[in-house]
Amino acid sequence: MSISVGIIKETFPGERRVAMAPRVMDMLAKVGAQFIIERGAGLDAGFTDSEYEAKGARMVATADEVRKDAEILLQVRVDDSPLLKSGQIVIGMCDPLSEPKFIAQIAKRGITLFSMELIPRITRAQSMDVLSSMATVAGYKAVLLAAVQQPRMFPLMMTAAGTIPAARVMVIGAGVAGLQAISSARRLGAVVSGYDVRAAVKEQIESLGAKFIEIDAGESGEGTGGYAKQLSEDAINRQREALGNVMKDMDVVITTAAVPGRKAPLLITAAMSRKMAPGSVIVDLAAERGGNCELTKPGETVVDNGVAILGPVNLPATIPNNASQMYARNLSTFLKNMITKEGALNIDLSDEITKETLVARDGQVANPRVEALLGTTEKA
Ligand code: NAI
Repeated sequence: MSISVGIIKETFPGERRVAMAPRVMDMLAKVGAQFIIERGAGLDAGFTDSEYEAKGARMVATADEVRKDAEILLQVRVDDSPLLKSGQIVIGMCDPLSEPKFIAQIAKRGITLFSMELIPRITRAQSMDVLSSMATVAGYKAVLLAAVQQPRMFPLMMTAAGTIPAARVMVIGAGVAGLQAISSARRLGAVVSGYDVRAAVKEQIESLGAKFIEIDAGESGEGTGGYAKQLSEDAINRQREALGNVMKDMDVVITTAAVPGRKAPLLITAAMSRKMAPGSVIVDLAAERGGNCELTKPGETVVDNGVAILGPVNLPATIPNNASQMYARNLSTFLKNMITKEGALNIDLSDEITKETLVARDGQVANPRVEALLGTTEKA
């Protein structure tokens, strides 16, 4: 038995990742998958057609041919091409909690859709966790953007022309992206400090050689499942005051603070960023989710009072080779979990991972959280 798995060139503007990397194909080929891939699908990520062909893929000229023939379509960002067929299975990122109406549209067309963003954060699913792998790429790139933008170098240098002090970098929010930013900034030689509302990360920050900034916000920020919870306005104000005092001496601030299902907390007001020295840089990784910084404009660099505030969007697409490789492995591990020893697809809703990620099936929205967001009148 074999399952046909399709890969197309991504359609989202500026997207350079691809849902499959040649090196990862063996994992699914071993369980009987046969790949149909659009010519040129991987070029932006550095994967050639001949590399895919060497792994046994059938290359076709257009995305439409892939959509016509593939039982399962793997995507980075799911699109709603009119050529998707009823009964077809699509797996990718589709932002179901922000875009529930999109999910309802896909559901109405009879497509079975799995959202990679909804992979549960349990140990068994770690190798499928796209939020973690993409946050790793974003955290690394945020440091590089800051290093290029700022008018100083990161490492301490003792030269015949004098001593150059190390840059001072602060990372706010020490989840997956923040911890990667801390270690990347350390590797470049900066003096790094980190802060998070969850006290549990103190040890992780310190183990990376950074200083943990203690702030008493007056309430605990620990939510469920290792995530933060939303703080009261009073607690956020206390945070802002304490952060403002530390920030004014920093060369670079990288913010990554997020609370699942909510707009990102506004931690840096315009008044706070204006207290930083000219030439300082803020990189706001929460730009796509409302921003941690009042002056952030998504996709732009704002220079205010000499301070550059970067609001990068879709950073993983700027490192498309490694990001695609990681994403393809996450996706393949996820799909393999639904393929039987005989090579048949088995959508088993008693499996927590399958159940949590399924958002559309049999003409219906299949996820209670998405349904709740749609409200009863707009259900598919
Ligand atoms: P995220 O992207 O939702 O949030 C980023 C960070 O912002 C979090 O560390 C959060 O505590 C922090 N934050 C929220 N509000 C804040 C505020 N007001 N001030 C300062 N910081 C604030 O989180 P991410 O990176 O997706 O994951 C967070 C945690 O989830 C991890 O550290 C880990 O404990 C857990 N996790 C577990 C996994 C597993 O078991 N498979 C995989 C990945 C993450």
